[in-house]
Amino acid sequence: MPNVVIVNVKKRYGDIVALDGVSLEIRDREYVCIIGPSGSGKSTLLKVIAGIIKPDEGKVFIDGVPVDKIPIENRRLGLVLQDILLFPHMTLWDNTTYSPVVRGLNYNLVREKGLTALSLVEIDIPLEILPNELSRGAQQKIALARALAADAKLLLLDEPLGSIDARTARSLRYELRRIVKSLGLTAIHVTHNQEEAMSIADRIIVMRKGKVEQIGTPLELYTNPRTPFVCRFIGGEANFFEGKVIGRNGKSTIVALSNGSKLEIYDPKNLNGKVVIAIRPEHIVMSVNENEVNDDINVLEGHIAEVHFLGSYIRYVVNTNEGELIVKVPRNKIIFKEGDRVYLHVKHAYLFRYPEEGLEKAIAYE
Ligand SMILES: Nc1ncnc2c1ncn2[C@@H]1O[C@H](COP(=O)(O)OP(=O)(O)OP(=O)(O)O)[C@@H](O)[C@H]1O
Ligand SMILES: [Mg+2]
Repeated sequence: MPNVVIVNVKKRYGDIVALDGVSLEIRDREYVCIIGPSGSGKSTLLKVIAGIIKPDEGKVFIDGVPVDKIPIENRRLGLVLQDILLFPHMTLWDNTTYSPVVRGLNYNLVREKGLTALSLVEIDIPLEILPNELSRGAQQKIALARALAADAKLLLLDEPLGSIDARTARSLRYELRRIVKSLGLTAIHVTHNQEEAMSIADRIIVMRKGKVEQIGTPLELYTNPRTPFVCRFIGGEANFFEGKVIGRNGKSTIVALSNGSKLEIYDPKNLNGKVVIAIRPEHIVMSVNENEVNDDINVLEGHIAEVHFLGSYIRYVVNTNEGELIVKVPRNKIIFKEGDRVYLHVKHAYLFRYPEEGLEKAIAYE
């Protein structure tokens, strides 16, 4: 029953603050994804949880016991690291079955565990070769198989699907979640891929600059991002604007964008003064007919600048007097073409206090 408690963990490398006071709790049998830009501390956090890196401050508990007090063979971890995937001098089979062999299981059990793990990751290659003869994607599959064969209770996976081709990675992500849920494991899975995190995590931890920016279910992070950064990082593209609060209407706040367009936005926070407004491309309804929009509020006028077909929906770039906006429309709706004059009806938007560091820095992927 591994739950993981992390208390105020700090880790520096010289001047670089890799982890800057991280506290969080991961529940037993939970599938948690950690996402965040490169350098935000994801791998460092995972290694601290595994007990591979000792933090400068703070503690990690697995099932209430400090991780450094648990002998490594008793930690029951299934590890896939980002930098070193496999033992280079061992064959693929020996890598896969490393843990059952070390634990002294008999030949038949070792064989069974190895074969089961390999079948889960859908790999069909000779197993007597060494890792360096394989592509990184195939090495990743073997690393995953090794983690699964370890009979671990806690899986710590650092970008486990990052080098695997997109189609296989997509099916493997669901398989991973299925395995974790059916065996009652706890998984902490680091990924760059927000879509991967959204689609399999019970909860997502968003990291930024060594800190936890927000933790929540995919839906919570999508519907209620606490910062512009989370709004940009979760749920795909978003359009950001600076604006000013000019009034209130019940639980809604009325804001003016730079060039005078007005939006009425649900805002329990009751913000004032300078604000950031974020509009998701899927929260805009687009029409050619002005009569279909019956208000001068929540409406922007523009011209279609670009049209991109993305399978089930179409992505438009629209030039408006407030700047460029991305709009996404399901493909079964009417299709606009470059140059069409359109009205954008904003159905939903998010409002944030204007960040001290400025909007551009607050949403930068670094
Ligand atoms: N061994 C090390 N020595 C010096 N600096 C390090 C070391 N390991 C990590 N860092 C630095 O600590 C910060 C956090 O690194 P970390 O590897 O945890 O980031 P990450 O979120 O995993 O990034 P990525 O998405 O690129 O894997 C980065 O600035 C990195 O350069
Ligand atoms: Mg990393």
